[in-house]
Amino acid sequence: MNTINYTYFLGCIFLIIFSSCKHNENEYHHLTDKIEAKSKKYNGVSISSEAYIGDIKTVEITEGHHTFLIPDRKSQITSYTCTDCHSKPLTELKEVSLKKAHWDIMLEHANQEVMNCATCHNGNNMDHLLTLTGKTIDFNKSYRLCAQCHSNQFEDWKGGAHGKNIGGWANPRAVMTCVNCHNPHKPKIESRWPSRFNTQKVKERE
Ligand code: HEC
Ligand code: HEC
Ligand code: HEC
Ligand code: HEC
Repeated sequence: MNTINYTYFLGCIFLIIFSSCKHNENEYHHLTDKIEAKSKKYNGVSISSEAYIGDIKTVEITEGHHTFLIPDRKSQITSYTCTDCHSKPLTELKEVSLKKAHWDIMLEHANQEVMNCATCHNGNNMDHLLTLTGKTIDFNKSYRLCAQCHSNQFEDWKGGAHGKNIGGWANPRAVMTCVNCHNPHKPKIESRWPSRFNTQKVKERE
């Protein structure tokens, strides 16, 4: 390569580099620069999720790198505190009780060979849930119970990809917990009609 060609070649390279760097005011090097610039006008304006959380009683949890609020459950479960009745071992309770106490609970979750009431409920201390290895879980942290078997949904949920935020992404971040949407005894979400059901279309199809 002779010198003229070489300088020409270098010149081209510089031209390419500098022209690709050239930008006007509305263009940014990085997405973060853009976010920073665009959010300047909101500095000092406080956006809060508190108005949306309203009267919902919440508890703060920390899982991995994520700290957020979830609704309190213990104040919502009518038969809590369980030990009001479960002060004796189950076998004794069953002898006394003529009717099935929790007749309204039908387990439709995993295969019956795999799961029964004792998979999740602690016969020795009904006020707490039970892990597969026999440790206790607070009823407010029932998502940990679910996470044992549904780790993918749990990971997604922590980051906000499964489930729903209560007040959007504004701080403090509040998130619906698994049992707000899934009945633990029958977790399948039933398919349903859209809320604006078009009766005219149904007539036309008939
Ligand atoms: C009003 C009294 C009462 C309350 C409150 C109560 N239970 Fe029970 N529960 C019973 C009786 C009585 C039995 C035994 C008879 C039966 O199996 O139906 C029982 C049985 C059970 C069983 C065993 C069911 C089976 O088929 O083996 C589980 C699990 C259970 N209760 C969980 C709970 C949990 C969890 C709570 C609290 C969230 C709770 N109970 C609150 C009265 C109660
Ligand atoms: C997959 C785990 C799991 C299994 C299996 C399970 N439960 Fe539960 N149960 C839960 C969780 C979690 C809650 C708390 C839900 C909430 O926060 O509303 C609960 C709540 C309850 C309650 C209080 C709420 C209510 O509806 O009165 C009773 C009683 C109860 N379970 C009884 C039972 C009985 C009886 C069985 C067996 C037929 C059973 N559970 C099987 C996880 C389970
Ligand atoms: C001991 C393991 C175990 C635990 C604990 C557990 N699950 Fe499950 N869950 C299963 C299995 C097994 C299935 C069935 C999977 C299948 O049919 O493909 C299932 C199915 C489901 C489904 C799908 C139902 C459907 O048919 O679409 C949902 C939703 C679900 N579980 C939610 C929960 C929630 C919420 C909790 C916590 C309250 C929980 N699970 C706790 C094992 C578990
Ligand atoms: C805001 C409501 C909401 C919350 C909170 C929520 N889920 Fe779900 N979940 C859903 C819906 C909706 C589906 C999809 C049902 C369908 O497609 O049929 C689903 C599906 C699932 C399924 C079935 C497999 C799949 O991905 O389709 C599992 C398992 C499950 N959820 C577990 C969990 C667990 C564990 C948590 C808590 C860590 C949780 N969910 C929190 C609404 C919720």
